[in-house]
Amino acid sequence: MASGTTRLSTAPYRGTRDFLPDEMSVRGQVYGRLFAVIESFGYVRYDGPTLEPVEIYEAKSGQELVNEQLYRLTDRGGRTLALRPEMTPTVARMVAGHAARIALPARWYSFAHFHRYERPQRGRVREHWQINVDIFGAESPEAEVEIFALIHRMFAALGAAPADYVLRASDRALVQAALVRYAGIGHEAMREVFRVLDRWEKYPLAENQALLAAAGLTADQIARVGEVVGMDFARFRDLVTDAELDASNLGRILRDGLLDGPLAFDPLIVRGFEYYTSTVFEVFDSAPENRRSLFGGGRYDNLAGLFSDRRIPGIGFGMGDVTLFDFLGTHGLLPEARTAPDVALLPLEAASRTELLTLAAELRAAGLRVVTPLASRGVGKDLKDAARQGARYAVLLLPDELARGAVIVRDLARGEQREVPRERVVEVVRAEATLS
Ligand code: HAM
Repeated sequence: MASGTTRLSTAPYRGTRDFLPDEMSVRGQVYGRLFAVIESFGYVRYDGPTLEPVEIYEAKSGQELVNEQLYRLTDRGGRTLALRPEMTPTVARMVAGHAARIALPARWYSFAHFHRYERPQRGRVREHWQINVDIFGAESPEAEVEIFALIHRMFAALGAAPADYVLRASDRALVQAALVRYAGIGHEAMREVFRVLDRWEKYPLAENQALLAAAGLTADQIARVGEVVGMDFARFRDLVTDAELDASNLGRILRDGLLDGPLAFDPLIVRGFEYYTSTVFEVFDSAPENRRSLFGGGRYDNLAGLFSDRRIPGIGFGMGDVTLFDFLGTHGLLPEARTAPDVALLPLEAASRTELLTLAAELRAAGLRVVTPLASRGVGKDLKDAARQGARYAVLLLPDELARGAVIVRDLARGEQREVPRERVVEVVRAEATLS
């Protein structure tokens, strides 16, 4: 390129991120622990396409997502597509499409990335990753109980204490019944009331009350809505009938004490998607400096109905990477990056090259991460390279020692070295590397 030419930016597109190896090492360890917990509950992994017909979101994903956040594109055949903003419509499509050969209830999970056109800010980017965990074909409250228990196990596997986060849950249908009976809210205003509940904690009370008034609620109704949102379950249950509680999985869980871990009933949990039909939940960080929603989910009993006549209820959640890693950072729970090789073999000389490659293969087979020089540069430079890469050990294959059937094992962290018989190198290095 001629001098003076404008170089392209090395910055990634706004709201997207580059992940360097150190960061990937940390992320990989965290995901590894989460996947292990999820699989221990019998969930199996799936994946789907990044491009979907835009209609699958238009149907039930909600106005904000569809009108403001979708990355839309037109393919060469004139079809309107979206870069997937979430997994739930995709997985509902997959389950509906393959229903004949999927044994229900099915426990499925995925790890995938999503695009949403949002203003980048703390916790919000334009490309994020989510772990989605869902159960299909289960109507009973035991599905909710399992999903909640799994969430608690996932936090425990990350080293979080129960006090570090709060799981808050509601049931849209149950809260709606309470608002009809106790506050006399009519069908026309209900949607707007839920929209206001969804934003309740983020905006001043007066502003929320003004929105309720604009939706046609009287001062008494507004006061009653304010009462309902502050109720714990013991008070709230008096607002609904036994039949309504029986019809609510969350109501039954709370009334009958079915829980397997802590949960806070909270009518302010609404969640934006239209496909949720009853249970909705969200997990919040309880650290004062990071009091925000970490992730959420809910029950969607009719989404598969977009694609087939068969009724296949679903319940699950999507855990986002940005908020998860903010949480881990806030609570000092990030693991150390692990990118350095365990062993560097050197030098690369014509006489000992075969011996070096054979020993490298043996050490790798023993589970160690081994690097060899890519050019003949001599012992001194190779040792410097090994130290720069952070290798813990260097194994030196030098003519005098090789002639005696031995090599030198150098501990680069301590700067100590010793001669080890060739046939014992793997055993010695492996023992020391696993100890250190
Ligand atoms: P969602 O609440 O839209 O739910 O997204 C799930 C999580 O993904 C959020 O709580 C957050 O952690 C993360 N997330 C979403 N958008 C962004 C963004 N722009 N930047 C960073 N992180 C983001 C769903 O997507 C549902 N489909 C989840 C679900 C699964 N419900 C049932 N099953």
